[in-house]
Amino acid sequence: MTETNLLQGKKGVVLGVANKRSIAWAISKGMSDAGAELAFTYQNEKLKGRVEDLVSTLPAECSLFPCDVTDDEQVAALGEGLSRDFGSIDFLVHCLAFASREDLERGFSQTSREGYLLAQEVSSYSLTAVSRMAAPLMKDGGSIQTLTYLGSERAVKNYNVMGVAKAALESSVRYLAADLGEKGIRVNAISAGPINTLAARGISGFTDILGQVAERAPLKRNVETEEVAGASVFLASDLSSGITGEVIYVDCGYNIVGL
Ligand SMILES: NC(=O)c1ccc[n+]([C@@H]2O[C@H](COP(=O)([O-])OP(=O)(O)OC[C@H]3O[C@@H](n4cnc5c(N)ncnc54)[C@H](O)[C@@H]3O)[C@@H](O)[C@H]2O)c1
Repeated sequence: MTETNLLQGKKGVVLGVANKRSIAWAISKGMSDAGAELAFTYQNEKLKGRVEDLVSTLPAECSLFPCDVTDDEQVAALGEGLSRDFGSIDFLVHCLAFASREDLERGFSQTSREGYLLAQEVSSYSLTAVSRMAAPLMKDGGSIQTLTYLGSERAVKNYNVMGVAKAALESSVRYLAADLGEKGIRVNAISAGPINTLAARGISGFTDILGQVAERAPLKRNVETEEVAGASVFLASDLSSGITGEVIYVDCGYNIVGL
């Protein structure tokens, strides 16, 4: 569905592929179809083989780097690897988050200090860390993107500590956009509707959320990962050259509905 050649000549890195259902994987296929050259990261050795298998299905050869975003050395090594393999990059897609399962099923007031800090570190601070790494590689400007969810601004049952992390993430998008704009680097978030992925299945009652959205969203259905990928390709392309600091909803319109 993505327009051929829209990203011809552009190079970028996608963080957050875990399996074929990952939003990051749909984005990667969209970017590849649009002509981009890609590099990937995997969180740990357990996921490496699966990411390698998926990446091998793409038409072009792609670099692969380990990157647990809580490890500053791995983030720095990613920057060095990208510099070595690509020289410069045009986009970075941050498509990852984590919170303890127990914090996604009990009352929000029960959130532990440790659980709160973990969700913030992985799901929010990491965008700043990888943007700092990527900015010097974006020699002709670039596009940094992250994935967020409506639970950042509404109290969504069981989303809890992840909603607070997404609120910080969206604020970080604005501060990073303001900081990096003079270098021609744009920073935006895509707020996706609920999609059945590994991360989403960690949220207690997720299936009910899918049902309610399909019933109430203006388009009367849930969003497809390919539709999120379309927005991501647009944000990586020159078509979006005037857009930065934004949260763009790709949720079949659910966020606009009152009653
Ligand atoms: N699925 C949804 O309903 C939905 C909706 C809106 C936004 N999002 C967001 O989309 C993004 C991708 O999630 P997904 O739904 O595709 O699930 P997913 O489980 O496929 O992807 C989550 C990724 O986060 C990575 N990750 C977790 N901890 C990490 C760490 N310490 N270092 C590096 N990587 C780490 C995992 O390896 C995995 O690749 C997340 O930010 C999520 O919050 C998802």
